[in-house]
Amino acid sequence: MSDAAPVVTIDGPVGSGKGTISTRLAARLGWHFLDSGALYRLVALGALRAGLGEDAGDEALADIARGLDCDFSFDGVETRIWLSGEEVTRELRSEPVSRSASRVAAVPAVREALVARQRAFRRPPGLVGDGRDLGTVIFPDAAVKLFLTASTEARAERRYKQLKEKGESVKLSRLFRDLEARDERDMNRAVAPLVPAEDAILIDSTELEINEVVDEAYRIVKEKLPDI
Ligand code: C5P
Repeated sequence: MSDAAPVVTIDGPVGSGKGTISTRLAARLGWHFLDSGALYRLVALGALRAGLGEDAGDEALADIARGLDCDFSFDGVETRIWLSGEEVTRELRSEPVSRSASRVAAVPAVREALVARQRAFRRPPGLVGDGRDLGTVIFPDAAVKLFLTASTEARAERRYKQLKEKGESVKLSRLFRDLEARDERDMNRAVAPLVPAEDAILIDSTELEINEVVDEAYRIVKEKLPDI
């Protein structure tokens, strides 16, 4: 029964706006929401807490992924996350966790260990998931696959604005270079690289406001799934 629940995947690079867009789309549809990046962040945090450093072996990281004791709650606005009973929503976004998550995400045994967990989010009435490989690897049978893009300049400027609003001092040129480096890593890694699924619909958000992208995504979903 739950296997039949429809899935919408939203994949794309850092700064494409997929987190905000997929959250709002899930809320508008009244569906469940999967923030798949949070699972890689949880493994990274679990490893840091277990005292595993930069040189942690792949098997030790995969053990942490297999044994994750975590909970997610989505209220239509934000996702709150717990690790071993303790809320870690904010900590998951911290710099050390972000840095470590991209390394952890490149370990094949970790990715493998998280497949079933991601699929378990698929429940009626439906699921919107955001990530890098949801349309290609995790939900190849998704009813709608979207791939969000935006120019590197637009993504760097969005990130710059966000950080400024938080009162952090950053240089736009530095953000631009960091984004280029992360794109390069994400697109060229051996396992589950960031590429659009063959049947994905590309949305370029460079010239669009967030609400316009959500409207467009909603229109595509309703067109493909007229009965929902
Ligand atoms: O999306 P977010 O920044 O939270 O992702 C955290 C890390 O997990 C990123 O470094 C990203 O490359 C990785 N990731 C992944 N596959 C996904 C989601 C995230 O490799 N489906």
